[in-house]
Amino acid sequence: MSLIENLFSAIHSHLSNDNIISYVATGAAVTASGYLLRQVLGGRREPAGPPRVPYTIPFIGHTLELNKNPRKFLKECNAKYGETYFIHVLGAETLVTQGKLGYEVMRADSDLSMEGTLRDILHLDKLLPEEVFGFKDINAASMRIYYTPNRLHKHTEDIQIAAKEALDDLFGYLPEPKKLDIPHKTLHRIIARISARLFIGPEHNQEVVDSMALFTGDVMKAAGVLTMTPSFLRKTALKYTTNIPHHHQVMRKHVKPIIEERMRQKNDDAYIKKEDYIEWMMEWENEFPDLTADHNSKGACGSRVLNLFISLFPTLLFPIKLALWPLMQSFASINSTSASCAWAINWMVARPDVYEVLMREIGELLPNDDDVITHEIVLQMDHMDAFLREVLRHGAENLGLRKVAMRDYVFSDGTLLKKGKVVCVQELQLNFLKKNADGTMTYEDTFDPWRTMHQKTKNSVNGAADHVIFGLGKHQAKLHGRSENHSKHMCPGRYLAVYVMKIVLTYLLKRYKFQTVNGAAPVRPVDYLWGMIAIPMIQPLEFSNRK
Ligand code: HEM
Repeated sequence: MSLIENLFSAIHSHLSNDNIISYVATGAAVTASGYLLRQVLGGRREPAGPPRVPYTIPFIGHTLELNKNPRKFLKECNAKYGETYFIHVLGAETLVTQGKLGYEVMRADSDLSMEGTLRDILHLDKLLPEEVFGFKDINAASMRIYYTPNRLHKHTEDIQIAAKEALDDLFGYLPEPKKLDIPHKTLHRIIARISARLFIGPEHNQEVVDSMALFTGDVMKAAGVLTMTPSFLRKTALKYTTNIPHHHQVMRKHVKPIIEERMRQKNDDAYIKKEDYIEWMMEWENEFPDLTADHNSKGACGSRVLNLFISLFPTLLFPIKLALWPLMQSFASINSTSASCAWAINWMVARPDVYEVLMREIGELLPNDDDVITHEIVLQMDHMDAFLREVLRHGAENLGLRKVAMRDYVFSDGTLLKKGKVVCVQELQLNFLKKNADGTMTYEDTFDPWRTMHQKTKNSVNGAADHVIFGLGKHQAKLHGRSENHSKHMCPGRYLAVYVMKIVLTYLLKRYKFQTVNGAAPVRPVDYLWGMIAIPMIQPLEFSNRK
């Protein structure tokens, strides 16, 4: 699930069904207006390029068919039009690809760009100041350094503390079963609490947790508003229709003083460096001198004037800049991790046999109620790891990893994608379609967590041909004969994400039983928004104390 997908699924994390309908309606209205505008302004279709799947109703295009039965629709299109074709969804033409070209999209960097999606479709560059949005490469670089497997043990305790606090607040002791209409919403708040502690430290407060939790959903809302509003009205429109300015305010009010205090304390020789994101970022210019120079020269991290003032008065101005950075971080991390936890819970409800195996493993590793989950114990959760790998394999998008062509882009087979057009990958198809040794293909869509259990490189975080949810990894690139060039952007937060999920799920399983209301048979664990974006199925669950 990529950054843009986080947004769409974020809707489910904190909205009711009614709100979702109103969002979809707003989205439809926005895209309808965009479509009509393009028609009025004389938008034309390019005649050449990959086949276009025909449709009858203008603007609606394939939206309804895709929404109704996405797998059937895409299966039929794949059979008829091959690896690459255009469909028309939500008022826009999108290139859909899979197979070799799918990997090519995942590997591409600046020509087919995720940044284009963040800017052109989500307008994230208008929702965060340039010194925050322009910082995202350094943000990713910092994740690559700090959230590696050999540093995760530094976070075990913080994750546990925050997970326990969140569980106590949101569930506590349950003398009576507690029904959650949208379990994802609760998981989202648990992950936000953990993220606040990891990114900002123990000094964070509830208002900060709330802003971090809600930011992604508000970006989604704002994307619609910004698409509709002329530039001179945008600031006002944002102020009255979304909470984005409020989230900025919260971070400046609460996080800025934390940074200022830390900067003061750091002058003391006895100061012990903390292990959290804002602490690391206080020294980012020393950590990433090359990236810093590059960014400053482009003015990418804010205006040159602002950077000059910051360098002259660092203690005064740097905290203002740094205070908003955790929002960018939350955007990349919280929703994807909480959605994955929600799928995991749904799968456990759907598959009691799998649940039994996981409970047995937890019972063996942590036999007593008050056992602490140490780093060593997390490393021994072999069944949990295999289970999460399968959860993530099934959680990939029908149409994901959306990228915008920054120039006319020619694929290796000669397919042309015009500048400004959007391409997305059939991630689920990549995960499910297995090439056998004899060249035949098998479609492996059963949920079998133990399928790769004893294969050394097949774990929850290594990319593989059947595991693309984090982007294109080295193993996948090798499989496709391009070992020199995997994706530069493969999710750097994946080690942390899976680590957090293991700890949260273990606590949940140890403390609570959960089932569908009335013990009814569960519906499917993964659902799709607009037929494209994998989201947790909204399925009320009942939680009760294990003891
Ligand atoms: C299950 C949870 C997660 C999923 C499924 C996920 C998925 C992804 C995907 C698909 C990408 C784009 C890869 C590409 O362009 O090749 C990505 C990028 C990114 N993710 Fe994650 N992610 C998750 C959790 C996290 C967490 C917890 C963090 C931070 C702590 C994080 C930080 C990032 C960042 C910073 C990028 C941008 C990388 C770059 O531009 O180089 N993600 N993620």
